[in-house]
Amino acid sequence: MFSLINKTLVITGGGSGIGQAISLLFAKQGAEVNILELNQAAAESTVNQIIAEGGKAKAFACNVADQQSVKEVFAQFSKVDILINNAGIAHVGNLENTTEADIDRIYNVNIKGTYNCLYAVTPIMKAAKGGVVLNMASIAATVGISDRFAYSMSKGAVLSMTLSYAKDYLKENIRCNCISPARVHTPFVDGFLAKNYPNNIEEMFAKLSASQPIGRMAKPEEIASLALYLCSDEAGFVTGCDYPIDGGFIRLNN
Ligand SMILES: NC(=O)c1ccc[n+]([C@@H]2O[C@H](COP(=O)([O-])OP(=O)(O)OC[C@H]3O[C@@H](n4cnc5c(N)ncnc54)[C@H](O)[C@@H]3O)[C@@H](O)[C@H]2O)c1
Repeated sequence: MFSLINKTLVITGGGSGIGQAISLLFAKQGAEVNILELNQAAAESTVNQIIAEGGKAKAFACNVADQQSVKEVFAQFSKVDILINNAGIAHVGNLENTTEADIDRIYNVNIKGTYNCLYAVTPIMKAAKGGVVLNMASIAATVGISDRFAYSMSKGAVLSMTLSYAKDYLKENIRCNCISPARVHTPFVDGFLAKNYPNNIEEMFAKLSASQPIGRMAKPEEIASLALYLCSDEAGFVTGCDYPIDGGFIRLNN
């Protein structure tokens, strides 16, 4: 079950955190992994790990916010069976703490980056008569979370793009779903704690852990397991869905 032999994966942001865990797991399952990354050194490090374990992988320097850069990378792929739009950035702040530059930055990476990769992959998947897309949303897409104004906007858009795209490409045999994690312990979380709460990192880490009723953050590998199911042939009946993976955050926090 869950074999990815002969499948080509394109994943954005595979140099760190959730994207790295997905890249490593998909390579173990037999996929050829192509990582599009802003941070080329991080992508190379994931690729080297995959190759050392006997897998196949390549790194591509790419800013997903830049359509030309995305187009040039996708032009090098003869087939893409699976696209995972995972690259994303955060912003902490309510409306008044969100500048025009902040909202543009979040829009460009989280929303336009997803659009750019969908735009580039669709002709390739149509020509192959099918494919699978998985987008990384967040619980912030469907729950009001304090001080995540711009981030929530962007993940709401990822969820609605998922539904719209899944509907439009049903007849092309392209499945499209998204995952909505609660907090996952990755450099993404460590980075925003260091930036936004430099004087009480440990206290905030404990607070963020406790906000999941299960009592901790997720591990990136736990998100990768759900991604594997959704991108496998075993999930052939699954499309147009958002999958919370949240330690009870959405339904048990009362
Ligand atoms: N960590 C969490 O708690 C959490 C929760 C819910 C959703 N998510 C989402 O999961 C995804 C991955 O998060 P993570 O925690 O693994 O983050 P991370 O910061 O550890 O990794 C993100 C990777 O994306 C890359 N990246 C950023 N901007 C890019 C761009 N413009 N072009 C190409 N690559 C770019 C970064 O270089 C980095 O390697 C994000 O979309 C995030 O919003 C994370």
